[in-house]
Amino acid sequence: MRVLVTGGLGYIGSHTCVELARDGHRLLIIDNLGNAKPSVLERIRELAPGAAIEFVRADVRDAAALESAFAGAGIEAVMHFAGLKSVSESMANPALYRDNNLGGTAILLKAMARHGVERIVFSSSATVYGVPEQLPYTESHRLQPANPYGQSKLQVERLLAAQAALRAGFRYAALRYFNPIGAHPSGRMGEDPRGVPENLLPYLTQVALGRLPRLRIYGADYATPDGTGVRDYLHVMDLAAGHLAALAYLCDRDRSICANLGAGRGYSVLEVLGAFERATGRKLAYDIAPRRPGDIAAYHADASLAARELGWKARYGIEDMCRDAWRWQAQNPAGYPD
Ligand code: NAD
Ligand code: WQD
Repeated sequence: MRVLVTGGLGYIGSHTCVELARDGHRLLIIDNLGNAKPSVLERIRELAPGAAIEFVRADVRDAAALESAFAGAGIEAVMHFAGLKSVSESMANPALYRDNNLGGTAILLKAMARHGVERIVFSSSATVYGVPEQLPYTESHRLQPANPYGQSKLQVERLLAAQAALRAGFRYAALRYFNPIGAHPSGRMGEDPRGVPENLLPYLTQVALGRLPRLRIYGADYATPDGTGVRDYLHVMDLAAGHLAALAYLCDRDRSICANLGAGRGYSVLEVLGAFERATGRKLAYDIAPRRPGDIAAYHADASLAARELGWKARYGIEDMCRDAWRWQAQNPAGYPD
C-alpha cells in the first residue's frame, strides 16, 4: 500500500518504516524534525534497500503542507506517530500537548477526509488508563489519565471514535503501547533522546557507555516483589510488527480496534538492570533515589485482545531488548550523526 507515516523519523516510527518498506509498502514520511535528525532517513533506506520511501519535512499542524503532501500522492492509509511524549513536559506545558497531539491529529483527519483516506493506525499509550483498578490492564479498564500527555492520547482516541461514527467507511486502530525499548538488531537504528534521558533503557545504556555515572533507581519501597517499579517492556521490533498486523486488520476485517501492545508481563527496575548486565557483560553502578512524582508502582498489559484479533504477540525477551539497545548505543555513542 501507499502509506503516509507521520513522525516516521522518530524512535518507533523509524523502526516501523523499515518493516513496512521491507514488506513492500511505499512510504511517504512526514516529520517536522522536532525530535529527530535527518540522518535517520538514510538509515531507514539502508535497512530497506530499494524501497520506495519519500520524505517531506512538515508539521502535521500545517494544513497547507498536508494538503500538498496528500494531493495526487495516492495515499491509502496513515500511520500516525507524530506527537510529543514527555509526561514531565506535558505537566509544565499542557497547552502544547493539546495543540500538538490533539490539534495535529484533528488537522490530519481533515486532510484524510478531503482525500478519501479511510484507514489510520494511531500511537496511543498505556498512560490512558491511569491508576490501576485491577491488573493486568484490559482495554475495558477505566480511562483516567493522570497527566496532560495521557489526556491528549485519550482525547485523540475519542476524536477517532467520533470520526468513525460520522464517516461510514472510516476505520482506525488505536494501539496502546506499554514500554517500548530495544533497537533494530543491526545496531544501525535505535532510540536517540536529546539531553539526559528520562526513560530507563536509554539511561542505562548511557551509564554503560560511561557518559552518566550511575543509574538512579526511583524508589525501592513500592509494594512490588523487590520494591522497585514494575513495567511491561516490549521490543520496538515487536511493536513495529504490531503496526503491520493492525494495518492488515483494518484492510481485511474492516473494523476499528483499540488494543494493548505489551508483552503481557512485568519486570522490575532491578530485574531490567540484571538482564542488562547479563546481556552486555557489564556491571553498572546504581543508587536508590526517592520515588519519581507521578510514577505508578506496577502495571502490565493484558495482551490477549491483540493476540486474538490481530494475531500479534511479543516475541523478544528482556535480554534481547537490552542486548539490542546496547548494540545500538555502543555502535553509535553520540546517537545519529548530525
Ligand atoms: P519520537 O519523539 O521519537 O517520535 C515522534 C516523531 O514525531 C519525532 O520524529 C518528531 O520529530 C515528530 N513530530 C512530533 N510532533 C510533530 C508534528 N507536529 N508534526 C510532524 N512531526 C512531529 O517518539 P516515539 O517514542 O517514536 O513515539 C512515537 C509515538 O508513540 C508518539 O505519538 C508517542 O506519544 C507514542 N508513544 C510512545 C511511547 C514510548 O515510550 N516511546 C509509548 C507510548 C506511546
Ligand atoms: C520505567 C521504570 C521508573 C528512569 C514512560 C511514560 C509513558 C510511556 C512510556 C509514552 C519506572 C524507573 C526510570 C530512571 C528509574 N510513554 N526509572 N530510573 O515512566 O513507565 O513510562 O514511557 O506513552 O507514558 O510515562 O517509563 O522508562 O521512564 O520508567 O528508576 O532513570 O524505571 O521509576 O519504574 P515509564 P520509564
